[in-house]
Amino acid sequence: MTFLSATLDRVKPSPTIAVTTKAAELKAAGRDVIGLGAGEPDFDTPQNIKDAAIAAINAGKTKYTAVDGIPELKQAICAKFARDNGLTYSPAQVSVGTGGKQVLYNAFMATLNASDEVIIPAPYWVSYPDMVLLAGGTPVTVEATLEANFKITAEQLEAAITPKTKWFLFNSPSNPTGAGYSWDELKALTDVLLRHPHVWVMTDDMYEHLAYDDFAFCTPAQVEPQLYDRTLTVNGVSKAYAMTGWRIGYAAGPEALIKAMRKVQSQSTSNPCSVSQWAAVEALNGTQDFLAPNNEIFTRRRDLVVEMLNQAPGIVCPKPEGAFYVYPSIAECIGKTSAGGALIENDEAFATALLEEKGVAVVFGAAFGLSPNFRVSYATSDEALKEACQRIIDFCNALK
Ligand SMILES: Cc1ncc(COP(=O)(O)O)c(C=O)c1O
Repeated sequence: MTFLSATLDRVKPSPTIAVTTKAAELKAAGRDVIGLGAGEPDFDTPQNIKDAAIAAINAGKTKYTAVDGIPELKQAICAKFARDNGLTYSPAQVSVGTGGKQVLYNAFMATLNASDEVIIPAPYWVSYPDMVLLAGGTPVTVEATLEANFKITAEQLEAAITPKTKWFLFNSPSNPTGAGYSWDELKALTDVLLRHPHVWVMTDDMYEHLAYDDFAFCTPAQVEPQLYDRTLTVNGVSKAYAMTGWRIGYAAGPEALIKAMRKVQSQSTSNPCSVSQWAAVEALNGTQDFLAPNNEIFTRRRDLVVEMLNQAPGIVCPKPEGAFYVYPSIAECIGKTSAGGALIENDEAFATALLEEKGVAVVFGAAFGLSPNFRVSYATSDEALKEACQRIIDFCNALK
């Protein structure tokens, strides 16, 4: 339709939302469907955070606020960066938006010109390339293979950098693989960036607190302080605090960049929800005691899913360091035919047949830029996970 913007031709709607919608449709039609597509914890928002929001409503904190965040929240964010990451920021270096998604989008809108390149390790969170395209830039993907534990190497990063590279986008622990870079692995990448002063780092630390076993989270400006002046550190309350619907994300970085991002936000959405900002103050300043028990639950579920999926013929499922996803390979299933007669020619066909024949909704790997794989979100009950994994095993056992 010519009425629509040409820019829109370059982007696609979110495939993760498409899977969730299709699963909901089947469920509504009476089918027994287990959804492993959603990227959000199944836990409720902690009570102290809800109480802070209710108190904010009752106190009349229901009006417009400063465009990129109330001073109390900016202070809480500065304290969080100091406490968790050893990073010193002033409130003027902090931006708060309607979810990490808006903050990332603001940053691209504020910085990208036509022909600017953004290096994105693949598999990636589905929104990264499309956000870059919407902002007029060019995504450049670098493949992080299963054999490399879904992490890119210094050599790959070096080879991807050109004079047009503006940003290196980093995400650890990762959506969709759960892979987390150790200090040494990240240092190898930051060493490359030191040699290329025109490249800035945008790090998406959304899954910082969802780290298991002995994995120690680290972030680029912490690992290499010389990158501090060209790093935007993005984070949010959605995942760790089970606050996806509240829509609060934030970033810290050089003041001039933060100011430019504020300009973008001021002409689009203005401030994020005032009540949610007060809830986020409590999330960051209040007790963090629920993080450890939640992580115990996630660790148990991860182990269960990895163990069961590796029993399915044709599936190889590595055990990741964090987040709540696994990203198994189905290379050995390609070319086979399902019990229902579907030819598994790629991972999309696998996911479609699995949903139609076994009622298990997963997101196919092509959506994340690395195939043939699929993503499982294990942010759901142990019972549902066991049943879903058994159905996946049965599905694979029947492949011919
Ligand atoms: C890697 C990553 N970054 C950012 C986001 C956005 O989070 P929100 O906008 O809910 O803060 C998500 C959500 O799925 C994500 O997986």
